[in-house]
Amino acid sequence: MNHRTQVGIVGAGPAGLMLSHLLHLAGIESVLLEARSRQYVEERVRAGLLEQGTVNLLIETGVGERLKRLGLTHHGIELRFGGRGHRIDLSGLTGGSTVTIYAQHEVIKDLIAARLAAGGQIIFEAGDVGVHDFDRPTPKIRYRIDGNMNELSCDFIAGCDGFHGVCRPTIPAGVLTMYDRIYPFAWLGILAEARPSSAELIYAYHDRGFALHSMRSPEITRLYIQCAPDEDLAQWPDERIWEELQLRLAAGKDWKLNRGAVIQKGITEMRSFVVEPMQSGTLFLAGDAAHIVPPTGAKGLNLAVADVRVLARALTDYYSNGNRELLSSYSETCLRRVWKVQRFSWWMTSMLHRFADDNPFDQRRQLAELDYVTTSRAASQTLAENYVGLPME
Ligand code: FAD
Ligand code: PHB
Repeated sequence: MNHRTQVGIVGAGPAGLMLSHLLHLAGIESVLLEARSRQYVEERVRAGLLEQGTVNLLIETGVGERLKRLGLTHHGIELRFGGRGHRIDLSGLTGGSTVTIYAQHEVIKDLIAARLAAGGQIIFEAGDVGVHDFDRPTPKIRYRIDGNMNELSCDFIAGCDGFHGVCRPTIPAGVLTMYDRIYPFAWLGILAEARPSSAELIYAYHDRGFALHSMRSPEITRLYIQCAPDEDLAQWPDERIWEELQLRLAAGKDWKLNRGAVIQKGITEMRSFVVEPMQSGTLFLAGDAAHIVPPTGAKGLNLAVADVRVLARALTDYYSNGNRELLSSYSETCLRRVWKVQRFSWWMTSMLHRFADDNPFDQRRQLAELDYVTTSRAASQTLAENYVGLPME
Protein backbone atom coordinates (compact mmCIF):
# COMPACT_ATOMS: atom_id res chain seq x y z
CA MET A 1 0.00 0.00 0.00
CA ASN A 2 1.13 3.55 -0.71
CA HIS A 3 -0.50 6.32 1.29
CA ARG A 4 0.05 9.95 2.23
CA THR A 5 -0.26 12.23 5.20
CA GLN A 6 1.05 15.62 6.31
CA VAL A 7 3.23 14.45 9.23
CA GLY A 8 4.50 10.87 9.56
CA ILE A 9 5.32 10.05 13.20
CA VAL A 10 7.55 7.13 14.24
CA GLY A 11 6.87 5.86 17.78
CA ALA A 12 3.73 5.88 19.95
CA GLY A 13 5.36 6.89 23.25
CA PRO A 14 4.45 10.12 25.04
CA ALA A 15 6.24 12.25 22.40
CA GLY A 16 4.64 10.68 19.30
CA LEU A 17 1.14 10.42 20.74
CA MET A 18 1.12 13.93 22.19
CA LEU A 19 2.42 15.36 18.90
CA SER A 20 -0.28 13.57 16.93
CA HIS A 21 -2.92 14.86 19.38
CA LEU A 22 -1.69 18.49 19.24
CA LEU A 23 -1.48 18.40 15.43
CA HIS A 24 -5.03 17.06 15.22
CA LEU A 25 -6.27 19.96 17.39
CA ALA A 26 -4.57 22.33 14.92
CA GLY A 27 -6.23 20.60 11.95
CA ILE A 28 -3.06 18.85 10.77
CA GLU A 29 -3.21 15.20 9.74
CA SER A 30 -0.67 12.63 10.90
CA VAL A 31 -0.12 8.87 10.84
CA LEU A 32 1.65 7.14 13.75
CA LEU A 33 3.78 4.03 13.23
CA GLU A 34 4.59 1.94 16.30
CA ALA A 35 6.76 -1.19 16.40
CA ARG A 36 4.97 -2.73 19.41
CA SER A 37 1.38 -3.81 20.02
CA ARG A 38 -1.21 -1.54 21.62
CA GLN A 39 -1.33 -3.77 24.69
CA TYR A 40 2.46 -3.66 25.09
CA VAL A 41 2.69 0.14 25.02
CA GLU A 42 -0.33 0.51 27.28
CA GLU A 43 1.24 -1.74 29.94
CA ARG A 44 4.91 -0.70 29.80
CA VAL A 45 5.90 0.49 33.30
CA ARG A 46 7.96 3.68 33.13
CA ALA A 47 7.75 7.18 34.56
CA GLY A 48 5.27 8.42 37.08
CA LEU A 49 5.81 12.08 37.83
CA LEU A 50 4.29 14.89 35.77
CA GLU A 51 5.38 18.52 35.94
CA GLN A 52 2.77 21.22 36.40
CA GLY A 53 3.08 22.27 32.74
CA THR A 54 2.57 18.69 31.48
CA VAL A 55 -0.55 18.33 33.66
CA ASN A 56 -1.91 21.68 32.42
CA LEU A 57 -1.35 20.72 28.80
CA LEU A 58 -3.10 17.35 29.18
CA ILE A 59 -6.09 19.02 30.85
CA GLU A 60 -6.27 22.00 28.46
CA THR A 61 -6.21 19.73 25.41
CA GLY A 62 -9.03 17.51 26.65
CA VAL A 63 -7.13 14.38 27.71
CA GLY A 64 -6.99 15.09 31.46
CA GLU A 65 -10.26 13.53 32.59
CA ARG A 66 -8.76 10.40 34.25
CA LEU A 67 -5.67 12.35 35.31
CA LYS A 68 -7.87 14.77 37.29
CA ARG A 69 -9.66 11.84 38.92
CA LEU A 70 -6.74 9.49 39.60
CA GLY A 71 -3.63 11.71 39.69
CA LEU A 72 -2.09 12.41 43.11
CA THR A 73 -1.15 16.07 43.53
CA HIS A 74 2.04 16.66 45.54
CA HIS A 75 3.02 19.98 47.11
CA GLY A 76 6.44 18.92 48.35
CA ILE A 77 9.17 16.26 48.37
CA GLU A 78 11.48 15.04 51.09
CA LEU A 79 15.25 14.75 50.98
CA ARG A 80 16.44 12.23 53.57
CA PHE A 81 20.05 12.05 54.77
CA GLY A 82 21.89 11.57 58.02
CA GLY A 83 18.87 9.61 59.24
CA ARG A 84 16.51 12.62 59.02
CA GLY A 85 13.94 13.93 56.59
CA HIS A 86 13.99 17.50 55.23
CA ARG A 87 10.97 18.74 53.30
CA ILE A 88 11.21 20.91 50.20
CA ASP A 89 7.99 22.92 49.99
CA LEU A 90 7.58 22.90 46.21
CA SER A 91 4.37 24.94 46.20
CA GLY A 92 5.52 27.49 48.75
CA LEU A 93 8.77 28.06 46.88
CA THR A 94 7.26 28.35 43.38
CA GLY A 95 4.14 30.45 43.90
CA GLY A 96 1.80 27.47 44.06
CA SER A 97 3.08 24.94 41.50
CA THR A 98 2.72 21.21 42.17
CA VAL A 99 3.76 17.90 40.60
CA THR A 100 1.39 15.00 39.96
CA ILE A 101 1.84 11.28 40.30
CA TYR A 102 0.15 9.60 37.33
CA ALA A 103 1.74 6.62 35.58
CA GLN A 104 3.17 7.12 32.09
CA HIS A 105 1.22 4.14 30.74
CA GLU A 106 -2.01 5.82 31.90
CA VAL A 107 -1.04 8.92 29.88
CA ILE A 108 -0.42 6.59 26.95
CA LYS A 109 -3.86 4.97 27.34
CA ASP A 110 -5.57 8.38 27.50
CA LEU A 111 -3.78 9.65 24.38
CA ILE A 112 -4.38 6.47 22.36
CA ALA A 113 -8.08 6.54 23.27
CA ALA A 114 -8.34 10.21 22.27
CA ARG A 115 -6.55 9.70 18.95
CA LEU A 116 -8.65 6.68 17.99
CA ALA A 117 -11.91 8.40 19.06
CA ALA A 118 -11.01 11.32 16.77
CA GLY A 119 -10.41 8.95 13.83
CA GLY A 120 -6.61 9.20 14.14
CA GLN A 121 -4.47 6.51 12.50
CA ILE A 122 -2.06 4.53 14.70
CA ILE A 123 -0.47 1.55 12.99
CA PHE A 124 0.73 -0.85 15.72
CA GLU A 125 3.21 -3.70 15.16
CA ALA A 126 4.81 -1.97 12.16
CA GLY A 127 7.96 -3.95 11.26
CA ASP A 128 11.19 -2.88 9.54
CA VAL A 129 10.36 0.81 9.83
CA GLY A 130 12.74 2.96 7.78
CA VAL A 131 12.84 6.71 7.12
CA HIS A 132 13.90 7.91 3.66
CA ASP A 133 14.42 11.05 1.54
CA PHE A 134 14.34 13.49 4.44
CA ASP A 135 16.83 15.64 2.56
CA ARG A 136 13.91 16.35 0.19
CA PRO A 137 10.48 17.97 0.56
CA THR A 138 8.70 14.60 0.25
CA PRO A 139 10.17 12.23 2.82
CA LYS A 140 8.89 8.66 3.10
CA ILE A 141 8.47 6.05 5.78
CA ARG A 142 8.52 2.40 4.71
CA TYR A 143 7.22 -0.32 7.03
CA ARG A 144 6.05 -3.91 6.99
CA ILE A 145 2.58 -5.10 8.02
CA ASP A 146 1.50 -8.75 7.69
CA GLY A 147 4.59 -9.48 5.63
CA ASN A 148 3.95 -6.68 3.08
CA MET A 149 5.97 -3.49 2.68
CA ASN A 150 4.06 -0.19 2.67
CA GLU A 151 5.10 3.38 1.91
CA LEU A 152 3.84 6.49 3.66
CA SER A 153 4.69 9.78 1.92
CA CYS A 154 4.56 12.93 4.00
CA ASP A 155 5.72 16.55 4.24
CA PHE A 156 7.62 15.99 7.50
CA ILE A 157 8.75 13.08 9.68
CA ALA A 158 8.80 13.23 13.47
CA GLY A 159 11.29 10.77 14.95
CA CYS A 160 9.66 10.01 18.33
CA ASP A 161 11.01 6.46 18.50
CA GLY A 162 12.97 6.67 21.75
CA PHE A 163 16.65 6.11 22.47
CA HIS A 164 16.87 2.77 20.60
CA GLY A 165 14.82 3.86 17.57
CA VAL A 166 15.78 4.03 13.88
CA CYS A 167 15.37 7.72 13.09
CA ARG A 168 18.49 9.13 14.80
CA PRO A 169 20.86 6.43 13.44
CA THR A 170 19.53 7.00 9.90
CA ILE A 171 20.80 10.60 9.85
CA PRO A 172 24.08 10.53 7.85
CA ALA A 173 27.38 10.57 9.71
CA GLY A 174 28.80 14.02 10.26
CA VAL A 175 25.44 15.79 10.68
CA LEU A 176 24.98 15.08 14.39
CA THR A 177 27.17 15.61 17.43
CA MET A 178 26.50 13.40 20.46
CA TYR A 179 27.22 14.41 24.04
CA ASP A 180 26.94 11.77 26.72
CA ARG A 181 27.83 10.53 30.15
CA ILE A 182 27.20 7.05 31.46
CA TYR A 183 26.93 6.73 35.24
CA PRO A 184 28.71 3.92 37.13
CA PHE A 185 25.44 2.73 38.70
CA ALA A 186 21.84 1.79 37.85
CA TRP A 187 18.46 1.67 39.61
CA LEU A 188 16.74 -1.49 40.69
CA GLY A 189 13.02 -0.60 40.72
CA ILE A 190 10.00 -2.42 42.10
CA LEU A 191 6.28 -1.90 42.02
CA ALA A 192 4.61 -3.31 45.14
CA GLU A 193 1.08 -3.83 46.39
CA ALA A 194 1.80 -1.82 49.51
CA ARG A 195 0.36 1.42 50.82
CA PRO A 196 2.89 4.26 50.40
CA SER A 197 4.82 4.77 53.64
CA SER A 198 4.83 8.54 53.20
CA ALA A 199 2.41 10.97 51.55
CA GLU A 200 5.27 12.50 49.53
CA LEU A 201 8.26 11.24 47.53
CA ILE A 202 11.43 10.56 49.51
CA TYR A 203 14.87 10.91 47.88
CA ALA A 204 17.39 9.30 50.26
CA TYR A 205 21.17 9.71 50.34
CA HIS A 206 22.75 6.88 52.36
CA ASP A 207 26.19 5.32 52.87
CA ARG A 208 24.84 2.19 51.19
CA GLY A 209 23.63 4.19 48.17
CA PHE A 210 20.63 6.14 46.92
CA ALA A 211 17.00 5.07 47.45
CA LEU A 212 13.70 6.56 46.26
CA HIS A 213 10.24 6.09 47.65
CA SER A 214 7.52 6.96 45.14
CA MET A 215 4.03 5.66 44.45
CA ARG A 216 1.38 5.08 41.83
CA SER A 217 -1.82 5.12 43.90
CA PRO A 218 -2.95 4.92 47.53
CA GLU A 219 -2.43 1.13 47.25
CA ILE A 220 0.71 0.85 45.10
CA THR A 221 4.25 1.90 46.04
CA ARG A 222 7.08 2.45 43.54
CA LEU A 223 10.57 2.05 45.03
CA TYR A 224 14.09 2.24 43.66
CA ILE A 225 17.58 1.52 45.00
CA GLN A 226 20.94 2.36 43.50
CA CYS A 227 22.70 -0.80 42.32
CA ALA A 228 25.59 -1.81 40.04
CA PRO A 229 25.05 -1.24 36.29
CA ASP A 230 25.46 -4.97 35.64
CA GLU A 231 23.47 -6.06 38.70
CA ASP A 232 21.99 -9.54 38.44
CA LEU A 233 18.30 -9.42 39.38
CA ALA A 234 18.47 -13.09 40.39
CA GLN A 235 20.64 -12.01 43.33
CA TRP A 236 17.81 -9.82 44.60
CA PRO A 237 14.99 -11.89 46.07
CA ASP A 238 12.16 -9.70 47.38
CA GLU A 239 13.26 -10.05 51.00
CA ARG A 240 16.73 -8.65 50.24
CA ILE A 241 15.20 -5.67 48.36
CA TRP A 242 12.87 -4.82 51.27
CA GLU A 243 15.72 -5.02 53.79
CA GLU A 244 17.93 -2.78 51.70
CA LEU A 245 15.13 -0.25 51.17
CA GLN A 246 14.36 -0.19 54.90
CA LEU A 247 18.03 0.47 55.72
CA ARG A 248 18.48 3.25 53.17
CA LEU A 249 15.13 4.99 53.71
CA ALA A 250 15.07 4.79 57.53
CA ALA A 251 14.71 8.03 59.46
CA GLY A 252 14.75 7.54 63.21
CA LYS A 253 14.41 4.09 64.72
CA ASP A 254 10.63 3.93 64.43
CA TRP A 255 10.24 4.60 60.71
CA LYS A 256 8.95 1.51 58.98
CA LEU A 257 8.53 0.88 55.29
CA ASN A 258 5.20 -0.78 54.35
CA ARG A 259 5.76 -4.05 52.51
CA GLY A 260 3.58 -5.99 50.08
CA ALA A 261 3.63 -8.31 47.07
CA VAL A 262 6.20 -7.26 44.45
CA ILE A 263 4.36 -7.08 41.11
CA GLN A 264 7.15 -5.79 38.89
CA LYS A 265 10.95 -5.66 39.12
CA GLY A 266 13.52 -4.20 36.73
CA ILE A 267 16.90 -2.49 36.28
CA THR A 268 17.21 0.96 34.67
CA GLU A 269 20.56 2.16 33.37
CA MET A 270 21.56 5.74 34.06
CA ARG A 271 22.72 7.96 31.25
CA SER A 272 22.84 11.58 30.15
CA PHE A 273 22.74 12.01 26.37
CA VAL A 274 22.07 14.85 23.92
CA VAL A 275 22.25 14.99 20.15
CA GLU A 276 22.74 18.27 18.32
CA PRO A 277 21.00 19.40 16.21
CA MET A 278 17.62 17.71 16.75
CA GLN A 279 16.70 18.01 13.06
CA SER A 280 17.99 17.14 9.63
CA GLY A 281 16.09 18.38 6.56
CA THR A 282 12.46 17.35 6.95
CA LEU A 283 13.16 14.92 9.85
CA PHE A 284 12.67 16.23 13.41
CA LEU A 285 13.75 14.26 16.50
CA ALA A 286 11.79 14.61 19.75
CA GLY A 287 11.92 13.07 23.22
CA ASP A 288 14.25 10.19 24.08
CA ALA A 289 15.24 9.88 20.40
CA ALA A 290 17.19 13.13 20.91
CA HIS A 291 18.10 13.09 24.59
CA ILE A 292 18.16 10.95 27.73
CA VAL A 293 18.35 12.09 31.34
CA PRO A 294 19.02 9.97 34.42
CA PRO A 295 15.64 9.54 36.20
CA THR A 296 16.68 11.29 39.44
CA GLY A 297 15.05 14.55 38.33
CA ALA A 298 11.90 12.82 36.93
CA LYS A 299 12.27 14.73 33.67
CA GLY A 300 12.31 12.35 30.67
CA LEU A 301 8.61 12.24 29.89
CA ASN A 302 8.16 15.91 30.69
CA LEU A 303 10.98 16.89 28.35
CA ALA A 304 9.52 14.73 25.58
CA VAL A 305 6.22 16.60 25.96
CA ALA A 306 8.03 19.97 25.95
CA ASP A 307 9.76 19.11 22.63
CA VAL A 308 6.56 18.20 20.85
CA ARG A 309 4.87 21.36 22.05
CA VAL A 310 7.58 23.31 20.24
CA LEU A 311 7.30 21.08 17.17
CA ALA A 312 3.49 21.27 17.03
CA ARG A 313 3.62 25.06 17.23
CA ALA A 314 6.23 25.23 14.45
CA LEU A 315 4.25 22.89 12.18
CA THR A 316 1.03 24.82 12.87
CA ASP A 317 2.71 28.08 11.91
CA TYR A 318 3.98 26.47 8.71
CA TYR A 319 0.61 25.02 7.68
CA SER A 320 -1.40 28.13 8.59
CA ASN A 321 0.97 30.87 7.42
CA GLY A 322 3.55 29.17 5.20
CA ASN A 323 6.16 30.29 7.71
CA ARG A 324 9.23 28.04 8.13
CA GLU A 325 11.04 30.12 10.73
CA LEU A 326 9.86 28.19 13.78
CA LEU A 327 10.71 24.92 12.03
CA SER A 328 14.22 26.16 11.29
CA SER A 329 14.74 27.16 14.92
CA TYR A 330 13.12 23.98 16.36
CA SER A 331 16.37 22.43 17.51
CA GLU A 332 17.77 25.64 18.96
CA THR A 333 14.54 26.35 20.89
CA CYS A 334 14.36 22.82 22.32
CA LEU A 335 18.04 22.58 23.21
CA ARG A 336 17.91 25.61 25.49
CA ARG A 337 15.46 23.71 27.73
CA VAL A 338 17.13 20.34 27.15
CA TRP A 339 20.49 21.53 28.49
CA LYS A 340 18.94 23.14 31.56
CA VAL A 341 17.08 19.93 32.31
CA GLN A 342 20.27 17.94 31.67
CA ARG A 343 22.09 20.09 34.19
CA PHE A 344 19.37 19.64 36.81
CA SER A 345 19.14 15.85 36.30
CA TRP A 346 22.94 15.48 36.45
CA TRP A 347 23.06 17.65 39.60
CA MET A 348 20.34 15.69 41.44
CA THR A 349 22.07 12.43 40.42
CA SER A 350 25.52 13.61 41.54
CA MET A 351 24.24 14.93 44.86
CA LEU A 352 22.28 11.82 45.82
CA HIS A 353 24.29 8.76 44.66
CA ARG A 354 27.41 7.08 45.99
CA PHE A 355 30.16 6.91 43.36
CA ALA A 356 32.46 3.88 43.30
CA ASP A 357 35.57 6.09 43.45
CA ASP A 358 34.31 8.56 46.05
CA ASN A 359 36.25 9.17 49.24
CA PRO A 360 35.35 10.66 52.62
CA PHE A 361 35.91 14.16 51.22
CA ASP A 362 33.31 13.58 48.48
CA GLN A 363 30.80 12.18 50.95
CA ARG A 364 31.16 15.16 53.26
CA ARG A 365 30.83 17.51 50.30
CA GLN A 366 27.59 15.76 49.26
CA LEU A 367 26.22 16.02 52.80
CA ALA A 368 27.16 19.70 52.94
CA GLU A 369 25.34 20.26 49.66
CA LEU A 370 22.21 18.48 50.95
CA ASP A 371 22.41 20.50 54.16
CA TYR A 372 22.70 23.73 52.13
CA VAL A 373 19.87 22.81 49.75
CA THR A 374 17.51 22.06 52.64
CA THR A 375 18.37 25.08 54.77
CA SER A 376 18.94 27.92 52.30
CA ARG A 377 15.76 29.36 50.81
CA ALA A 378 17.65 30.34 47.64
CA ALA A 379 19.01 26.82 47.17
CA SER A 380 15.70 25.06 47.87
CA GLN A 381 13.95 27.45 45.53
CA THR A 382 16.41 26.55 42.77
CA LEU A 383 15.63 22.88 43.29
CA ALA A 384 11.87 23.52 43.48
CA GLU A 385 11.57 25.63 40.33
CA ASN A 386 13.46 23.04 38.29
CA TYR A 387 11.57 20.10 39.84
CA VAL A 388 8.06 21.47 39.11
CA GLY A 389 9.27 22.35 35.61
CA LEU A 390 10.82 25.47 34.09
CA PRO A 391 8.34 27.68 32.22
CA MET A 392 7.87 27.03 28.50
CA GLU A 393 9.41 29.78 26.36
P1 FAD B 1 9.50 6.27 24.38
O1 FAD B 1 8.54 6.31 25.52
O2 FAD B 1 10.68 5.39 24.46
O3 FAD B 1 8.65 5.88 23.10
C1 FAD B 1 9.22 5.52 21.86
C2 FAD B 1 8.26 4.60 21.12
O4 FAD B 1 8.83 4.29 19.86
C3 FAD B 1 8.05 3.28 21.84
O5 FAD B 1 6.67 3.02 21.94
C4 FAD B 1 8.78 2.27 20.97
O6 FAD B 1 8.18 0.99 21.03
C5 FAD B 1 8.67 2.92 19.62
N1 FAD B 1 9.73 2.50 18.67
C6 FAD B 1 11.04 2.28 18.92
N2 FAD B 1 11.69 1.94 17.81
C7 FAD B 1 10.76 1.94 16.82
C8 FAD B 1 10.82 1.66 15.42
N3 FAD B 1 11.96 1.30 14.84
N4 FAD B 1 9.69 1.77 14.72
C9 FAD B 1 8.51 2.14 15.29
N5 FAD B 1 8.41 2.41 16.61
C10 FAD B 1 9.52 2.32 17.36
N6 FAD B 1 10.39 10.57 33.03
C11 FAD B 1 9.68 11.49 33.73
O7 FAD B 1 9.37 12.56 33.18
N7 FAD B 1 9.31 11.30 35.03
C12 FAD B 1 9.63 10.16 35.70
O8 FAD B 1 9.22 9.99 36.85
C13 FAD B 1 10.41 9.17 34.99
N8 FAD B 1 10.77 8.04 35.59
C14 FAD B 1 11.35 7.04 34.86
C15 FAD B 1 11.61 5.86 35.50
C16 FAD B 1 12.17 4.83 34.77
C17 FAD B 1 12.45 3.54 35.48
C18 FAD B 1 12.45 4.98 33.37
C19 FAD B 1 13.02 3.85 32.56
C20 FAD B 1 12.20 6.16 32.74
C21 FAD B 1 11.65 7.21 33.47
N9 FAD B 1 11.37 8.42 32.87
C22 FAD B 1 10.74 9.40 33.61
C23 FAD B 1 11.70 8.65 31.46
C24 FAD B 1 10.52 8.48 30.50
O9 FAD B 1 9.91 7.23 30.68
C25 FAD B 1 10.98 8.65 29.03
O10 FAD B 1 11.77 9.79 28.94
C26 FAD B 1 9.81 8.76 28.05
O11 FAD B 1 9.22 7.49 27.85
C27 FAD B 1 10.24 9.31 26.69
O12 FAD B 1 9.16 9.32 25.80
P2 FAD B 1 9.39 9.17 24.23
O13 FAD B 1 8.03 9.21 23.63
O14 FAD B 1 10.41 10.12 23.78
O15 FAD B 1 10.04 7.73 24.04
C1 PHB C 1 8.57 7.26 39.69
O1 PHB C 1 7.54 7.41 40.38
O2 PHB C 1 8.70 6.29 38.92
C2 PHB C 1 9.64 8.26 39.78
C3 PHB C 1 9.46 9.40 40.54
C4 PHB C 1 10.48 10.32 40.65
C5 PHB C 1 11.68 10.09 40.00
C6 PHB C 1 11.86 8.97 39.22
C7 PHB C 1 10.84 8.02 39.12
O3 PHB C 1 12.70 10.99 40.13
